[in-house]
Amino acid sequence: MADYRWPEAGKRSLIGKRISRLDGPVKSSGRVKYTYDVDRPNMLYGKMVLSPYAQATIKSIDTSAAEKMPGVKAVQVMREPGAGILWAGQEVVAVAAETEEQARDAARRVVVNYEKLPHLVRDVEPAKAGDRAKPAAEQTEGDPDKAFQEAEVTVEGQYGCPVITHCCLEAHGQATEWEGDNLTVWASTQNVSGIGGEFASGLKIPAGNVRTLTPVMGGGFGSKFGADTWGLACAQLAKKAGRPVKMMLERDHELMVAGARPSIHAKVRVGAQKDGTITAWSSESWGTGGMGTGGSPRLPYVFRIPNQRKRHTAVLTNIGPARAWRAPNHPQLCLITMAALEDLAARLGIDPVEMFLKNIGMTGELSKVYAAELQKAAELIEWQKKWHPRGDKAPGVIKRGLGISLHTWGGGGHPSNCACAIHPDGSVEVSLGSQDLGTGTRTIIAIIAAETLGLPLEAVKVNIGDSHYPQSGGSGGSTTVGGVSASTRRATTNALNELLAKAAPSLGVENDQLEAVGGRIQVKGNPSKGMSWKQACAKLGTTLINATGQTSITTPTGPSARDLISSGVGGVQIAEVAVDIETGVVKLEKLVAVQDCGLIIDLKTAESQVYGGCIMGVCYALYEEKIMDEQTGRCLNPDMEFYKLAGIADIGELVVHMMTGPGYDERGVIGLGEPPVISSGAAISNAVANAIGVRVPTLPLTPDKVLAALEKGGAA
Ligand code: MOS
Repeated sequence: MADYRWPEAGKRSLIGKRISRLDGPVKSSGRVKYTYDVDRPNMLYGKMVLSPYAQATIKSIDTSAAEKMPGVKAVQVMREPGAGILWAGQEVVAVAAETEEQARDAARRVVVNYEKLPHLVRDVEPAKAGDRAKPAAEQTEGDPDKAFQEAEVTVEGQYGCPVITHCCLEAHGQATEWEGDNLTVWASTQNVSGIGGEFASGLKIPAGNVRTLTPVMGGGFGSKFGADTWGLACAQLAKKAGRPVKMMLERDHELMVAGARPSIHAKVRVGAQKDGTITAWSSESWGTGGMGTGGSPRLPYVFRIPNQRKRHTAVLTNIGPARAWRAPNHPQLCLITMAALEDLAARLGIDPVEMFLKNIGMTGELSKVYAAELQKAAELIEWQKKWHPRGDKAPGVIKRGLGISLHTWGGGGHPSNCACAIHPDGSVEVSLGSQDLGTGTRTIIAIIAAETLGLPLEAVKVNIGDSHYPQSGGSGGSTTVGGVSASTRRATTNALNELLAKAAPSLGVENDQLEAVGGRIQVKGNPSKGMSWKQACAKLGTTLINATGQTSITTPTGPSARDLISSGVGGVQIAEVAVDIETGVVKLEKLVAVQDCGLIIDLKTAESQVYGGCIMGVCYALYEEKIMDEQTGRCLNPDMEFYKLAGIADIGELVVHMMTGPGYDERGVIGLGEPPVISSGAAISNAVANAIGVRVPTLPLTPDKVLAALEKGGAA
C-alpha cells in the first residue's frame, strides 16, 4: 500500500512556502491567450439581439434585412416566436459577421415583435409583491416562544443586502470551431471537463466529439459553469457559416444577465441574558433571486442559537437569472446575523469580542478555531487600544469604529483524476481536466508534483484546461484545491514508486528504502548512495511511466478529519472605518482577515485568495447594487461607470493572517476561494454602526443611506 500522506512539516521543500504563480509572467505580459483573445483563421464575430422587455412573449421575428447586411455569414434564432421572455437582456437572435461592427449593425436590423406583459423588477417586500411572493414553510427549533418570554433583553432590527451582479474581468463567452462533426470550444469556464456534455446534447452530437479548451480564464466566481444559451448559439452560427465564430458578451449584457446574486432581507429578533448569553432567534426574511425560489436561507449564520423561529418568502422578479456568487448566500446571511448580534452587544453594553467569545460554543466543532482567530484578529487590529462603545464620542465630523464578523465554509475536494507521466529523458508531466480561474490552481498542482518527486518546480509540466485530460471536477464551492491536490499527490506518488522500483536493483536495495530528494533518487539515511533523477529515468529504456491518482467523492469533514484533504473552515474579520458624518462617506481604513484552510500548499496564493475576497467584500459592502427601473423593467447601471466597484484608493489596508501549523496542517488541504469574501460586508457594517452610533440597515453603505440613518437617530 503506497504511503500518500503529506510530508511532515520539517520535510517540506515547497509545500507551505510563498511561491509566485507560474503563469504570472505570461499573463501579465499578455503572451497567454484568454478565450477573449482567441483569434482563429477566418474567424467571424457573433453579436446578439436582446429583449428590451422584462416580461413578454415573442410574437414574430424577421431576420431577412439582417441577413442581407454587409459581412453577415449566419443568423441563428435563439428563442422562437411563442417563447416567453423573463428578463430584459434575454437573448433572442444571434448574428455572425466578418467584423464585430458588421455583426452589431446587422443585429440592429432584426425585427422582433413582442407582446409586453406585466413585470416586477424591484426588490420589494412580500406584501408588495402580490402573487409573486412565495412563502416557504416556517421552521422552528427548540421553544422560541418560551425563550423570548424568559429573555432578559430582546433586540429587534432589520438588515439586508440588495441584488448585486457578476462582473468578472473576462466576460462570459466562447469561440467555437467545427471540423466535420467535431467541435472545439474555447470557453471562459469553471468546468472544462463538464461543459462538453452540455454542448453535445444541445447540438445533438456525441459527447466525445466536443473538446473544451481553457488554458487560462479571467474569473468566474460561480457564474461560469454552463455552456449557456450564447455558447450553443455560437456553435450553431459556426456550423451554419462553416467558419469559426467568437461570441463574447458585451459588458452591458454581462451585467444584465450573467448572474444576479440574490437579495436577502430580514426582520430579526434576538433574545439574551444580561450577561450576553444568546438564547433565542426569530427572523422573517425575504429576497429575490429572479424567477427561482431557491429555498429557505440558513439563518442564523454560524451561531446555532438554541431556540429559533424562521419564516422566509421568495419574491419572483424579472431581474435576470440568479447564479452562484462566491460563497452563495453566505455573505447575506452573515450580514444579517452578525449585525443583529453586534446590535445586541451594543444594547447590552458588552464588548462584542467578549460577547462572541461567551457564545462561541454555539459555533459547534469550529469553536476553538473561532476563539483563536477572534483573539488573533483583535490583536492585529489593536482592539484593546481602539475599541469604544457604540458611537464615537470624539469631537469632529470623522467618526471611527470597529466591527467584527465570523464565517464558515465547506471546501471539501471534488472528484478529480490526475495522470502523471515520467519520461525516460527525465521530464515529468501531470495532466488534469481542471482549470485555473486565476486562483493559482496550476501552481498548486506543480508544487505538489515537484514536492512528491523531489524535483524543482520548473521540472514539472502541468497540463490543465483541456477536456482531453483526465476528468476533474468543476471549480465550484472551493472544491478545486482539495480535489486536485489529492489526485496529484496520489498520481505522482504512484509514478514515483514505479520509478523507484526501476532504480532499486542497481542500488542493491528494496524500493521502499529509496527516496526522491533534491533531484536525486537515493537510499534513505545514506544520501551518498544513489543516482540523479535523470540517471534513474534513463533506466526506463523506451517506456515511459504513466500513473494515475484519484480523489473520490468522500471527503472527510470536521476539525478531527484526517486525510490528504478535509472540509469545514472558519474565519474572522475585523474592520476599522472612518465615517464622515457631514457627507456620509465611509472610508475603510483597515480590514483584518484571519482565516483557516487546513494545510496550506502555497502561502502566497492562499493569502492572495484572502486579499481578493476582502476586495470583493469592500465592493459589495460599500458600492455594488444592481439597480432596476420599475417603469421600463431594465437595469439602470449595466456599465462600469454606474455599476460601482471599489477603486484601488477605496480598499484601505488589508491585513491577512493565515492560521497554519500544528492543529491546522493535520487536517489536510481545504478550499479557500469563497470563505474570505463572506465576512467583509458584515464587519464593515458593524464598524460603521460602532462609529456613528446607529445601524445603516442595508448594504451597500452609500452616503445617502448613512445620512438617512444618522437623521433617524444617530448618536453623533
Ligand atoms: Mo462558487 S460561487 O460555488 O464558484
